[in-house]
Amino acid sequence: MSDQESNVAQLLSLSRAARLVGVSRGALQKKIKNGELPTFEGMVKPEDLVRAYPDTQLEDNTALERFSRIKDEAFNLRVRERLLPEPEVLVERLAGLGRELAQTKALVERYKTVTEWLYDKFSEFEKSGGREIMGVMGPLKLWLRHELEKETPSDYLQSYLVKDSFLRLMTAHIRLLPGRREFFVEGSDTILDAALRAGISLPYRCSNGICGLCKAKVVSGKTLPVRHSDYSFSEVEKNQGYVLLCSHTAVSDLEIEAAVIGGAQDIPEQQIAARVKKIERLGENMALLHLQTPRTKRLQFLAGQSVLLETGNGAEAELPVASCPCDDRNLQFHIQRFSDNRLSDYVFRKLKNGDIVTLTGPKGEFALHEDSTHSQIYLAYDTGFAPIKSLIENAMARDVADTMHLYWVAGKEGHYLNNLCRAWTDALDNFQYTPVVAETAEATQVLEQIQADHADLSGYDIYVAGPASCLTVVKEFLRNINFPENQLVMTRVE
Ligand code: FES
Repeated sequence: MSDQESNVAQLLSLSRAARLVGVSRGALQKKIKNGELPTFEGMVKPEDLVRAYPDTQLEDNTALERFSRIKDEAFNLRVRERLLPEPEVLVERLAGLGRELAQTKALVERYKTVTEWLYDKFSEFEKSGGREIMGVMGPLKLWLRHELEKETPSDYLQSYLVKDSFLRLMTAHIRLLPGRREFFVEGSDTILDAALRAGISLPYRCSNGICGLCKAKVVSGKTLPVRHSDYSFSEVEKNQGYVLLCSHTAVSDLEIEAAVIGGAQDIPEQQIAARVKKIERLGENMALLHLQTPRTKRLQFLAGQSVLLETGNGAEAELPVASCPCDDRNLQFHIQRFSDNRLSDYVFRKLKNGDIVTLTGPKGEFALHEDSTHSQIYLAYDTGFAPIKSLIENAMARDVADTMHLYWVAGKEGHYLNNLCRAWTDALDNFQYTPVVAETAEATQVLEQIQADHADLSGYDIYVAGPASCLTVVKEFLRNINFPENQLVMTRVE
């Protein structure tokens, strides 16, 4: 690559770089770990990116599109309804790109003038000097002329520039301070919705511009209100650039000072009357219950957590949420039919669309390790798949794990969402799925298989959900092979 091409260098965040070459962020991190892509303070040079992905067609985004589709499904229709940024946002971004283009043109003109001046100086020097000087200046002039007449940047680099400009027109990049969390705001999404979609938990409650819990300080960049808000900021907050993340979108790339939810202890208990949206039968004794909360009272929770469900007949049960917090309004639960369980019996016999179910929670501490970039192994026993599904969808949204491997041990109800797990495998290069039939598996057989599949387990976080008896076996097995205790996260699901 010529010097001229490298002049366009501008450091890219990993998320932006991944988008440019159409791969997931996890895939890019793998290249970095393998030493195939250098980074500078966590950023990537465009020319290094082009070198690391020489065969990538910038127009070909198949892999990323498959990945985005999976993420969108976890996020329901909320995002797809609003694909285009607001007109004011587009105008601002176009004006910004126009300004950048004008500056670049001015810079090119200046370089041209300096280069011509340099050529003339070489000529003067050549004429005034002796034989020796001529011997140096001649080739130097030839080289300069040759470089100036060279083709403009390669097609590949030009495609990169076009695509980068397009991405900057359609999306804004957000960096959260302190720390390195980053995500994109697409369409006319609010900053809060975009963060949730990226698997980042920020403090919020009403999602409607009332409570003020989502306020954060914009350190750099420009935002635009896209929803009405009744919250009043103090004069000091106004002057310091505070905005409500639930009612603003990003006009430009932003740096925001915001507290991130550190764990279950940071989320207050909520009570919400949710409506039954759909009850889907997944087999004779399994049902998928879809609940929808009011628009202004969504459930804030961490992937993997549970809530207490209470139905009209006064029956209640604590159940894991089986969907991703990236869609905090549309919640799913896996209900198994038990004749001696009042809630399960009510769901199968009486509950219908439109009925109200009261949710209290969230409860429990089963959640992803917040800052871990370890590869992940998920082990689900029967309906333990519910919280594991929520974790997997959240991990996909975060896109930081190198690899994910799901083992699902199922008994008589079978792998009731087998197709979904297969779809994940098809869509993601770094996802593996191993269904295991419980009747044929000894308690420790699946653990021996995990050990055989992954020679060195020390680089993994292992998440397990299932009955207490299974958790005891898993704990014992992993202790015996000296697996680090802090990399094992378990929850009981009977
Ligand atoms: S979440 Fe209540 S004001 Fe934003």
